[in-house]
Amino acid sequence: MKGIVFTEFLELVEDKFGLEMVDNIISSSDLESGGAYTAVGTYSFSEMLQLLQHLSANTGISIDDLLLVYAEHFFGVIEESYPGLLATYKDPIEMISSIENHIHVEVRKIYPDAELPTFVVESKSENDLTVIYKSSRAMHHFGLGLMNKTFEHFNATAKIELEKIKEDGTEVRFVIHKN
Ligand code: HEM
Repeated sequence: MKGIVFTEFLELVEDKFGLEMVDNIISSSDLESGGAYTAVGTYSFSEMLQLLQHLSANTGISIDDLLLVYAEHFFGVIEESYPGLLATYKDPIEMISSIENHIHVEVRKIYPDAELPTFVVESKSENDLTVIYKSSRAMHHFGLGLMNKTFEHFNATAKIELEKIKEDGTEVRFVIHKN
């Protein structure tokens, strides 16, 4: 997992819960990195999982809700860092259906070692999109947060439903309806 995902996460934790919480979740985790991350580095996903688990235990907020809020913050990072990529799109359905064949393809050119999910478009029309999310990291709520913000970015709203295909969340269907 890319370092920028860790640095932005810890900044948000500091913002919302304070530096003590950052120290707390780092010191209660068994981290190969020691909790020192640089934006361009690459770290094990198990480190993110431990940080999320400890933050969840300390705050009573579920990991899914933490990932949702974190993704909404991360979209702002994307808007700042990759404005050109977003400017390719005029419509949220077009953008979300292009993650697999365009957006994450470009991400992989920038970060060859990025750990990205797979999105398979099941059906698509002007206002409806069904995509299957697949990833061993089960970060579907990170995807949901990014999708929410994608609609907001285009001044649109949507109803987005998640259906777990696999109980452990490694395969999830997103049923999206643009209002
Ligand atoms: C992960 C970039 C749009 C879904 C990531 C990562 C980056 C990235 C850098 C982390 C990779 C790693 O840690 O190794 C971008 C950029 C985007 C974009 C630059 C737009 C210009 C989206 C959108 C979605 C999405 C719209 C909506 C579903 C995800 C998910 C992950 C991810 C779910 C977590 C990894 C996993 O589930 O396995 N993306 N992304 N991305 N991205 Fe994107």
